[in-house]
Amino acid sequence: MSGTSLDGIDAVLARFDSSGHPTILSRAGVDFTPSLKDELLALNTSGRDELARAALASNALADLYAQAVEQALTQAGVSRGEVSAIGAHGQTVRHCPNDGYTIQLNAPARLAELTGINVIADFRSRDVAAGGQGAPLVPMFHAGVFAAAHTRVVLNLGGIANITILRPEAEPQGFDTGPANALMDLWCHLHTGQPYDANGQWGAGGTVDSRLLKTLIEGEPWFALPPPKSTGRDLFNRTWLEQRLTQAGIERVDSARAQDVQATLRALTAQTVVNAIQTHAKDAKDVLVCGGGARNAALLNDLRKQLGYAVEPTDTFGIGTQDVEALAFAWLAWAHQQSIAVSRPAVTGARGNRILGACWPA
Ligand SMILES: Nc1ncnc2c1ncn2[C@@H]1O[C@H](COP(=O)(O)OP(=O)(O)O)[C@@H](O)[C@H]1O
Ligand SMILES: [Mg+2]
Repeated sequence: MSGTSLDGIDAVLARFDSSGHPTILSRAGVDFTPSLKDELLALNTSGRDELARAALASNALADLYAQAVEQALTQAGVSRGEVSAIGAHGQTVRHCPNDGYTIQLNAPARLAELTGINVIADFRSRDVAAGGQGAPLVPMFHAGVFAAAHTRVVLNLGGIANITILRPEAEPQGFDTGPANALMDLWCHLHTGQPYDANGQWGAGGTVDSRLLKTLIEGEPWFALPPPKSTGRDLFNRTWLEQRLTQAGIERVDSARAQDVQATLRALTAQTVVNAIQTHAKDAKDVLVCGGGARNAALLNDLRKQLGYAVEPTDTFGIGTQDVEALAFAWLAWAHQQSIAVSRPAVTGARGNRILGACWPA
């Protein structure tokens, strides 16, 4: 898995029993080089010779995916012959389901060639072809591993935040709630040179600008849309942020003011997640958090304060916060091989349940 934060790759090696219940055997992480990260970010908007550049970036991604696979295998002492498939999400560079497409850069043929293992990839396009958002795809997986006897929310804080609502005896629901790390990382990098705000510490030294927060939330109609809905860097990007800052009269910022903006971006994530939960999951009793944002202590504290109940990283429930998404795509590959249709109209808005992904045999 490599998500919209553009931090790198998370891989897990897992075994699934006949009902699809996973056991993690090992994990691996490979960071993107700064130049690949820059190129992937640049490919999120149209530019010169982007077809050729996208193909080259896809090859570079596949090479790193192969490294992550190799690391996970070595760590577990498992040989490639024992592995039934690699589930490889690819790198989203455009997500425009309402225009009928979503693009994940990937080179599955190259990955199959490099690893000698079947590769299952391109998980989102079939759901989009069926009229769906193509996202989120993880709620069915969350239901399998995190369901409880009460209503529970699973919150993934990646570049974008998405929630899954799990109720006993009911189909899971889920949708994107808005930006998470994508904007916080961008702002932090711009003003501190660091790729992200470790533990949310820098932002925690700032004060939330309530006027800016109001502009960010009320000035963006996407937040008020009912689900099914999904989003990406197509909307929540540097241009989006700069336009809002200008609207709020924030043009030039000193370092103290920059910290206030960071605190406000954290508040934007917290508030839009809380709004989504209070509108669609009023009966929730707890929230399980995964994704890199689960390590943003200040953000988790905001959520706890506003919701008034337990907001805990998924580690407490047996799966590391950094492993949940990777494991979900391993499960999606497993589901593809079992010919199980896992996309859900109730989640993505597609016309029906569909088998997701395609296979590049070893
Ligand atoms: N210690 C930390 N403190 C705060 N944020 C963190 C920390 N570690 C990682 N992150 C955030 O998590 C992001 C990566 O999260 P991830 O779940 O991989 O997202 P994605 O799926 O979008 O790639 C980083 O870009 C960073 O913003
Ligand atoms: Mg990531």
